[in-house]
Order: sequence, then C-alpha cells, then structure tokens
Amino acid sequence: MNHFFTPILEEWYEKNGRDLPWRHTCDPWVVLVSEVILQQTRVAQGIDYFGRFLQAFPTPEALASASEDQVMLLWKGLGYYSRARNLQKAARQIVEQGGFPKEYKQVLQLAGVGEYTAAAVCSFCYGQPYAVLDGNVYRVLARYLGIDIPMDTGEGKRVFQKMADEMLDVSQPALYNQAIMDFGAMVCTPKSPSCETCPLLETCSARRSGCVEILPVKSKTIRIRHRFLTYFLLTDSKGRIYIQRRGQGDIWQGLYELYCHETEQKMTHSEAAALFPNGEVLESLSGITHQLSHQLLHADCYLVRLQAIPTGLPGLWVEREKLQDYAVPRLVERLLEIIMSR
Ligand code: ADE
Repeated sequence: MNHFFTPILEEWYEKNGRDLPWRHTCDPWVVLVSEVILQQTRVAQGIDYFGRFLQAFPTPEALASASEDQVMLLWKGLGYYSRARNLQKAARQIVEQGGFPKEYKQVLQLAGVGEYTAAAVCSFCYGQPYAVLDGNVYRVLARYLGIDIPMDTGEGKRVFQKMADEMLDVSQPALYNQAIMDFGAMVCTPKSPSCETCPLLETCSARRSGCVEILPVKSKTIRIRHRFLTYFLLTDSKGRIYIQRRGQGDIWQGLYELYCHETEQKMTHSEAAALFPNGEVLESLSGITHQLSHQLLHADCYLVRLQAIPTGLPGLWVEREKLQDYAVPRLVERLLEIIMSR
C-alpha cells in the first residue's frame, strides 16, 4: 500500500469506474470467462461476446460438454482462438476436480490461465491479496514511479511485480485491482493521457520529469511476419461453396476457410488461374490485408465456378445460406462479404 497513490486511486475509481457486467458477480466461472475474453479484446467489443458466451455456457459443465465447432462459432470474430480452446480445457479440468479451485496455485494450473488471470480471479472472487499486472498496470506504475526498465525482460517483470505487490491494498484487493486497471484504461492511457485532470498529477514521477510519453519502455520491437494467402471461393454447379477446416499448429486452428494456397510472394493472376483449369474465374479481389499480433496477412481471393469437382479436396461443400453455421476467421468473412456483394 502506498499512502498517496492507493487511496487516491480508489477514490477516483469509486466516482469514475465503469459499471461492467462482470463486476456484479463473485462467481469465479463468470469472472474467468470475462478475463479470458478481455485478455486480447477491448472492453467495448468484449461485452457482447461475454453475454452470449455465458448464455450458452453458464457453467463449466456446459462448456466442458460442448463441441469445438459450437465453441468456435461463439468465439468467431474475437480472434486468438486458442483462448477459446484453452477455456474449454479449463472447464474440463474444473469439472474433473469437482468444482472451481479456491487457491491461487490451483487456479494457475487451469489451461490458459497465467499469473494475471489467476490474480484477477482470486482477488475479485475470493478477496485474496494478489496484485494484477497487465498492460494497464505496467503503464500506470512505470509512469507514476518513473520506472524505465524495459517491461518485456525478466528483470522488468520482477521489478514491476514487486512494485505492483507493494502498491496493492491488501485489505480490499478486488477494489484496488479494478481501480488501477480502469485508471490505466481511462486516464493514464497509452496515447494522450489525461494528465491535466489526473488526480495523481502532483506525485507522478513521469509528469515531473516530462517522461510520460516514453514510458513504459520496451526492449524490442516485435518483428512482423508477412504471409501471402490466395483464397479461392470455389462454387459448384449447384451454387454450393467449398470450405475446409484449418489444421493444427498455425493460426485459426479448427476454424473453417475457403480453399487456400500460401506462397512466399504474392501469387500472380495467371498462376492462380492455372490452378483450376476446369474453372472459370468470375471475380478477383486483390490486396486485402489483415493484421494479427505478429503477422501481417496479405490476401487475394478468386471466385471460381468449377465445371467439374476436382478429386482429393479434403473439405466440404455447403450451401451459401449454411455458411453462417461455420466459424470462419474475420479475414475470410471480409473476403466473402466483398466478393459476394459484387
Ligand atoms: N481488462 C481486463 N480485465 C478487466 C476487467 N476486469 N475490467 C475492465 N477491464 C479489464
């Protein structure tokens, strides 16, 4: 507990904190679902998914017995699909254990649960004194305390965790953790923070030294991998569309997509047309990009009507109206929207 920082932060939160649906419960299942959704998703986008997901799977038992396709369909559009698969694994662990674990160390054993999520669940649901450390908390602490150690290093993590533990209000960890996260999301924002109206202005180290914009520091800029995907929207004589399921060990595992070729460079139009000598290219779409955390996907798409179905295609043929029953990545959804509206 820091006698300047902590009470001011909590007072700010009590007046200005957001009223979010997962803050009305101490049910650890509900809190776990909210935290997993919010791991890589903004609150505004996450709220609807949170409601729909819990309506379908109100208990770990419900998710444990669901099919992967059903889970993926509800997760569609949120991205980072391994979160959903891990959540289902966690649900199965919880069912096997006969209930949601009550201790931090056990919560940490659940699939997809790291230190942040375990601290969130244990503080929000059980009032246990664990300080959360997420992107918001790194930023608030780096600025308020003037810490310029890179946050993405072993030393950085240790120092920030130590500081987070020191600042924690052990008498009300749930309130404190929610407060520091909301403060980071609403006042001490990455770009253009609201320093002029900040209640911590007078004791903020970064403000005094003019370092607000450069903190927190990261050691490395992530290298982005460029990938070139050429999609084929194959249709047969009945107007059905070919889709296939993506395999393991790459992005979008378990989701459906159109027939796809990945190449080192952008595929040319004639290379693409040559792949289906039996087909007629009706439309083409070029240069659609899609950003993932460490990858930039460059996609082209060809609408091809096939005279005869080639043998050896592993996927399935579905009617156009049935496409919505299959979880497809957002990129594929975009390609379909554009090419089908032509
Ligand atoms: N981001 C991650 N967890 C959150 C929470 N519980 N409330 C608001 N934003 C969050």
